[in-house]
Amino acid sequence: MPSYSLRVNGQVHQVDVDEDTPVLWVLRDHLQLTGTKFGCGIGQCGACTIHLDGLAMRSCSVPVSAVKSQDITTIEGLSEKGTHPVQKAWLEHDVPQCGYCQAGQIMNAAALLADTPNPTDEEIAARMNGNLCRCGTYTRIQKAIKSAAEQMS
Ligand code: FES
Ligand code: FES
Repeated sequence: MPSYSLRVNGQVHQVDVDEDTPVLWVLRDHLQLTGTKFGCGIGQCGACTIHLDGLAMRSCSVPVSAVKSQDITTIEGLSEKGTHPVQKAWLEHDVPQCGYCQAGQIMNAAALLADTPNPTDEEIAARMNGNLCRCGTYTRIQKAIKSAAEQMS
């Protein structure tokens, strides 16, 4: 079985897995980073969103063999103590309901604000569009992203 060296949240890990193993399962099953959630497994819901070199990616759809030297960041590594502006805004606006989709929402929102510091409502809707929430927290997500953008400016 091939061996892969992955930098996750600033730490290098060696994992022995099949080359087509999705990064999602490496994170959850081999590194016990269970903040990244399994929703659909086919790139359609966004629950599994992580960052690869700062870009939002769906970890269920990225085979481990496709990760070369990129830095992987999960919700556990977004900030040391949950103090990323997006996380603070999520608390301020009491965004989560059941919570299942929220790690993916936060990771996608953080990547959005990293490259678009003052997004319009339309830009937020376009970028967050594929992150599904069965509890319908979309309005609070929109408000929290605006609030985080203000804090970061
Ligand atoms: S679990 Fe990856 S997009 Fe749904
Ligand atoms: S908070 Fe329940 S699915 Fe989004």
